[in-house]
Amino acid sequence: MNTKRYIVVTATSFFLLVQAGCSCDADADEADAGKNSDAQQREDTGQSDDAGPTEEQRFRFALFSDPHFYDTDLGTGGQAFEAYIALDRKLLVESPAILDATIEALQKNRKDFDFVIVPGDLTKDGERSSHEKFIARIRVLEERGLQVYVCPGNHDINNPDARSFEGETTIPVDSVTPEEFAELYADFGYRQAIERAPDSLGYLAEPVEGLWVLAIDSCKYRDNLASGISEISGALSESTLSWIERVVAEAKQKKKSFFGFMHHNLVEHFTEQSKLPLLGDEYVVDDWMQVSRRVAEAGLRLVFSGHYHAQDITKQSWQESDLFLFDVETGSLITYPDPFRKVSIEKNGRVEITSEFVDSIDFDTDDLDFLEYSKRFLHSGIDNLAVDYLNLLGVSERDALAMRPIAVETLLAHYAGDEDPSEQSRLQVEGYMASSDLGVSVLAGYLKSLQTDLPPADNDAIFNIETGEIE
Ligand SMILES: [Fe+2]
Ligand SMILES: [Fe+2]
Repeated sequence: MNTKRYIVVTATSFFLLVQAGCSCDADADEADAGKNSDAQQREDTGQSDDAGPTEEQRFRFALFSDPHFYDTDLGTGGQAFEAYIALDRKLLVESPAILDATIEALQKNRKDFDFVIVPGDLTKDGERSSHEKFIARIRVLEERGLQVYVCPGNHDINNPDARSFEGETTIPVDSVTPEEFAELYADFGYRQAIERAPDSLGYLAEPVEGLWVLAIDSCKYRDNLASGISEISGALSESTLSWIERVVAEAKQKKKSFFGFMHHNLVEHFTEQSKLPLLGDEYVVDDWMQVSRRVAEAGLRLVFSGHYHAQDITKQSWQESDLFLFDVETGSLITYPDPFRKVSIEKNGRVEITSEFVDSIDFDTDDLDFLEYSKRFLHSGIDNLAVDYLNLLGVSERDALAMRPIAVETLLAHYAGDEDPSEQSRLQVEGYMASSDLGVSVLAGYLKSLQTDLPPADNDAIFNIETGEIE
């Protein structure tokens, strides 16, 4: 592994763990045809009218993100796997059991939802067998009448890190191409699509009559195999932006409600996120200020994202303008606090979001409650990597050791959302901000940003996408 690659992997692992076509321009007839087949499918799968939303609720769905499903037949022991886990401490071995528990919870509350969305990072590293086993599980939801819509994450396609683990070595295994991804997930959005976005794996669907959902592909997987590096950062291409503008204009003209979902954050979720070395620009889309404003100008005011593995909802607005946009980022299903969300959108634009957390799985969790087990796993992972990462940011070994506890505490709180640091923690960070050591003060500035939760609330929130009001 070369040095740059090591730094990227190390830093990213720290924050991963620590944070954890046809471009057919469908005419109205085609759109209606897509809608009809979608509605027909819901009928075929037994979705009863009784389970539908009330007139006020209108649209209700569930969401989980970054399930990073891992086919454990690819290896869960040996030196190579241990070395991998040491740099990436998502609950990969437990990922099948966590997904099973989530699916069970969704099935149990099936009458509360009309569909489910999953904004990417469906697999550990895009292994074909992980995709296949993930699909076998989510198909159960569709058999119960809950249509699932997915979009790709940075880990899912053309991934050179798709490997099996055998003793001291790793062996490349098949990943999937973009075309294969759309084929594999045909029943999870691509077949239901009214139209596909040009040059990407984005699409438009109408899961419930009157609601248009834009699956937006923000990933850069085209050059992964040539470079040998799985690209983490994301962007919205010009063709994707133009597609969003056209679809949203059509939605407004047809009086449809609409929202988008994508893997990367569309706006910063803490101040200066995009400037945090190695990390920020890889978690929020390139040129996010210009890109998000253009999306907001088009009229899209609600997007759901993942990628950062943190629970955070942020309202972005722009000075001297009435524009606003809500980006609802959801943490990873396999990283503390192991969340999934329930969302309802009322006719008047009122959006209500609640969060639930996987609390028990069919797996040996060392006699601990699952959430405590998950929290300890994340804590130890962050703690193990913190000093190396702080060194990379220019903090001396001595200062890094001193700052480690507050850095770990701050990141864990950011993952969980609704950050509310103690007075002592705030003062400690402010003390470091006043340091004459540039590395220490810059790092402390980021910790301050991470401690400062931008409105609205992160786990349970109510806001309005017509007025921009937060309740
Ligand atoms: Fe990601
Ligand atoms: Fe992820």
